[in-house]
Amino acid sequence: MPTTKRKPLVAVLDWKTAPASNSGVDLEAKVLGKGVRTKYYLIDTEADFTPEILGADALIVWQNTLITERTLEQLKRCRALIRNGVGFDSVDITAAAARKIPVCNVPDYGTEEVADHAIALTLALTRQLFPLDAEAKRPGWKLVAKDKLRRTSTLTFGVIGLGRIGTAAALRAKALGFRVVFYDPHLPNGVHKAVGIERTDSLAKLLKQSDVVSIHCPLSAETHYLIAEKELSQMKPTAYLVNTARGGIVKKKAVLAALKKGVIAGAGLDVIEDEPLKTKAEARTPNLIATCHAAFCSREGMVEMRTTSARIAKQAIQGKRLDNVVNGVS
Ligand code: NAI
Repeated sequence: MPTTKRKPLVAVLDWKTAPASNSGVDLEAKVLGKGVRTKYYLIDTEADFTPEILGADALIVWQNTLITERTLEQLKRCRALIRNGVGFDSVDITAAAARKIPVCNVPDYGTEEVADHAIALTLALTRQLFPLDAEAKRPGWKLVAKDKLRRTSTLTFGVIGLGRIGTAAALRAKALGFRVVFYDPHLPNGVHKAVGIERTDSLAKLLKQSDVVSIHCPLSAETHYLIAEKELSQMKPTAYLVNTARGGIVKKKAVLAALKKGVIAGAGLDVIEDEPLKTKAEARTPNLIATCHAAFCSREGMVEMRTTSARIAKQAIQGKRLDNVVNGVS
């Protein structure tokens, strides 16, 4: 009797709490072709991993879906785990490497979008867009927030992490007239000359002089709570904090308290620790602008990201060299 050949499975995993994709796997299936089963699953915890998912040949994982060591231990034949995005802090890449599972990301699809988002949050704060919008829609408007509106050419824009997105944000801020400084302990000398901005050799120095602090480093053991009570108190009381990187870099309790007490003038947070916001009281924090971990998002970027992830999954299934491996497993 002829045996039927098993079709490889690519499992696309989204976060059940707040799915990032509502468009299924049509794009991925197109790239992967008819010889592959491409299926979409919603995952919140380790318990949501069904035997079918654990038996997949490749996993494509949207943001916030945790891939723990326990889950990795149960994968039967996974040849690539692809983070549909830039940050891979949601995946235990060391445990994956120990099991010889390559972890890949898509580093470049959203560089422009996230930089634009950081600048959008910056300008919303320095131009007090939301207080003015609310006031203008009330009959009989007054010019609110006069003292908080600032002239860009007198301000310093401080970048934490001058990688792809940090550089794109720095160049945008420079074009708007900001003086731009950055802090990034991992970059060699000379980078500031290439980009035409200034370098600081300590976080404290950056915090002290910046009118806008914009975070663009990855979340890691080193950067977890990089900004907490002490660091917020080192910022100017007129300064704004912008975070489009990862929530865990900024201690939520500390930043919300700093906003309430006026330790800093405002914050624009696309990402927040233990996102999304949990209570109405958190949402009512004064001078807080929050967006829904959406900085990466654009119609064009989504297509690029999903197509790239599917292309890497195809490379894995075909046994080819994988693009964008981040945990050193080839
Ligand atoms: P990248 O790897 O090009 O740049 C990161 C930079 O941070 C590097 O230059 C690195 O040296 C620096 N860095 C590392 N540790 C640091 C520390 N302790 N202090 C200061 N700098 C430090 O990464 P890319 O593409 O610029 O992305 C940055 C982050 O943005 C990602 O890791 C991701 O978490 C986040 N992101 C957020 C998105 C969103 O939708 N909100 C979308 C895409 C990325």
